[in-house]
Amino acid sequence: MTTALMIEILTGDITKLEVDAIVNAANSTLLGGGGVDGAIHAAAGPLLHDYCRTLKGCRCGEAKLSPGFDVPARRIIHTVGPVWKDGTHYEAALLKACYRSSFELALQYEVRTIAFPAISTGAYGYPKQEAAEIAVAAMLEYQDRFERIIACCFSERDAMLYLSTLQAMVTIGDRPQFIPR
Ligand code: APR
Repeated sequence: MTTALMIEILTGDITKLEVDAIVNAANSTLLGGGGVDGAIHAAAGPLLHDYCRTLKGCRCGEAKLSPGFDVPARRIIHTVGPVWKDGTHYEAALLKACYRSSFELALQYEVRTIAFPAISTGAYGYPKQEAAEIAVAAMLEYQDRFERIIACCFSERDAMLYLSTLQAMVTIGDRPQFIPR
């Protein structure tokens, strides 16, 4: 059975996306930081911080959910990626767990459209190619259970990396969707 490929690769600011849920690359406190975490907290407003205090943190590889508050997305799924060391500290397994935990939590809340940043590839230093392979493999695993799965890249370069990774992974006949900014 061929499935319609519902994975989109975008370049842009995830805080602007009007989807059911955006995923935040958070830290274990869930109380904000820099990068996409900082951007999401800035866009969502102070109520997000107050709400996240009630979540009492999050372990690496797990995910917790909040309302979107002032971002267009209805919900925010906060997940904590692994800090890259040298690849022998279960980094790949933990990053996979971030995507799976986020997808499973999204399914519990009937999320149909979801956007991910490139988790762990900024401050946490995960090599972009390896991280993209993990992200795309997880998205392909869940593609039949969502209307839209978006990889929201923050640079054209990252988007092209995701596209080449997706093209390498999908069977002939499925056409990856590449929607430029
Ligand atoms: N929209 C989409 N992607 C973004 C945005 C944005 N507004 N801002 C940054 N990014 C991208 C980065 O370019 C990178 O590709 O998100 C990816 C993840 O980078 P980070 O935000 O640095 O996240 P991560 O590497 O997982 O490190 C998490 O950084 O900000 C702190 O509190 C956070 O301690 C945590 C750590």
